[in-house]
Amino acid sequence: MSFLPQEIIRRKRDGETLTEAEIAAFVSGVSDESVSEGQIAAFAMAVYFRGLSADELHVLTREIVTSGRRLSFDDGGPPTVDKHSTGGVGDKVSLVLAPLLAEYGLRVPMISGRGLAHTGGTLDKLESIPGFRTDLPLLRFEQVLAEVGCAMVGQTPEIAPLDGRLYALRDVTATVPSIPLVAASIVSKKVAEGASALVLDVKYGKGAFFPDPSDAEQLASTLLDLAREMGVDATALLTSMDEPLGQAVGNALEVREAIACLRGDGPADLRELTLEICSEAVSAATGCDLEAARPRLSEILDSGAGLERFRRLVELQGGDARVIDDPDSLPAAPIRTELTTPDSGFVREFDALEVGWTSVMLGAGRRGVADQIDPAVGVELLVKIGTEVEAGQPVARIHARTAEQAAAARKRLSAALTVSDQAPRVPPLVLKRLPGQV
Ligand code: URA
Repeated sequence: MSFLPQEIIRRKRDGETLTEAEIAAFVSGVSDESVSEGQIAAFAMAVYFRGLSADELHVLTREIVTSGRRLSFDDGGPPTVDKHSTGGVGDKVSLVLAPLLAEYGLRVPMISGRGLAHTGGTLDKLESIPGFRTDLPLLRFEQVLAEVGCAMVGQTPEIAPLDGRLYALRDVTATVPSIPLVAASIVSKKVAEGASALVLDVKYGKGAFFPDPSDAEQLASTLLDLAREMGVDATALLTSMDEPLGQAVGNALEVREAIACLRGDGPADLRELTLEICSEAVSAATGCDLEAARPRLSEILDSGAGLERFRRLVELQGGDARVIDDPDSLPAAPIRTELTTPDSGFVREFDALEVGWTSVMLGAGRRGVADQIDPAVGVELLVKIGTEVEAGQPVARIHARTAEQAAAARKRLSAALTVSDQAPRVPPLVLKRLPGQV
């Protein structure tokens, strides 16, 4: 390359603005592997501390997109729409939303990610279904999309490959919570997959990468600006991640909960947030009123029609569709043990960050780039913020591979729970809506 990677890293480290040519050269060095993993990590850390200007961010995102193919769907078919979360604990909305929107009549060409730090990833969840492939060749991805109305894969050598490498390295170098790096990562995938409308679920609260609502709002506006510049019509919701979404945290446990939701059951918060995001998505894709789509979306959940779409998706992506009728056939951990509360009162907190790290510690997430995850392990929360409990009542169920891991999880989870005498204020699921076009 005509630029030395270490010189580009130095300039960013010192707070200078990189030129288009420098960013393009660095990215192409990442693609042809002339830039080392250490240099990529150093670059990510420099961006973490120094940020990127709007122009630098645009160029980086464009270069990530062009590291692979860019899909487009100007064939007169249904509108293409997608959602992406900035990262949460127990956030299995994508698993419910994709088949639900497909059943509604939209197209959802979803490119997702793996777990990052203490948060879970859609790909890891889907891969807990035996046989499910998230690395489909693009041609097959398009066939599944045409047949089912949705398809769900990760970054592959053909699509946003650069995000795949950066993503894995950021995960293990403490460089995830950077507004420009999150924005480039998310928007590049959505541009590459060809989504024309996008709903961004921007998390704030204990378990979010940006716990402070004002930081989360800044992330939302960076995402919205970037999406608009790249030709994607986006809206954002600021949603609470003070406690995990739903009850299940851990890959197979979350698939089970998503299946329940697609059956019209499952936790109320998961259903509610999914319907909110889907209503936004339909409105963004079709121009209809926000509330107009909701009755039909609810109907699709309650009738099980969305679940039938999910079954088809699982079959066509190589998964064992028996899990739909028999969720007990999903991987299960050998040890299950309940945690009880020593106090009576109201649950004031079940710290999502701690619950997320407990799940990672049990094996549901990665500590190193090459780590294998355990699909079976995780945590089920049996209470939510505001639940009234009595001393001795079970508040969580731990699904562990070994007794030592179960004991460590018990200790960590007990510290994550706060019970108080007074009923707490339950945070609203959606704090704020940020329309894209202002
Ligand atoms: N989701 C992504 O795809 N990338 C991030 O950096 C964070 C959440």
